[in-house]
Amino acid sequence: MDALDYLKIDHNRVKNLLRSYSGMQDQLKKKQTLKELLAELSNHTEIEETLFYPHFDDRVEMKAILEHLHQDHADFEVLAGKVQFNTDDSLFDEFASEIERHVLREEMELFPLIRRMMKRSEREVLGRHLQCQKTGNLRTA
Ligand SMILES: [Fe+2]
Ligand SMILES: [Fe+2]
Repeated sequence: MDALDYLKIDHNRVKNLLRSYSGMQDQLKKKQTLKELLAELSNHTEIEETLFYPHFDDRVEMKAILEHLHQDHADFEVLAGKVQFNTDDSLFDEFASEIERHVLREEMELFPLIRRMMKRSEREVLGRHLQCQKTGNLRTA
């Protein structure tokens, strides 16, 4: 599968969890959904950090956006730590909008650059690597 399509599926999964959390009243369900969301997010950002972004390390034209995206991931970690121990909905809303903004930046700014520089066949090879890494992560989790 094309690496970009693969990552988009992950993005949609995270966005769906964000939305269902926001609409929930039951505290136990919220807690479970948050746990699932944080696990998905951490798995996804780990794959991007270890495999996807480094693939473009030598592309000068992508340096600025990749730095920005790395910083977003670091910010997520801090916010995730706070959200876990805080039932304040405004903190969660801030976390959710940071994630949505980041996803938009990847899909609307980063992915079009990649689509221009990599052939579909190359994106498919990269997609397979991402998939293998994810399966490996789940097995060791
Ligand atoms: Fe990301
Ligand atoms: Fe992403």
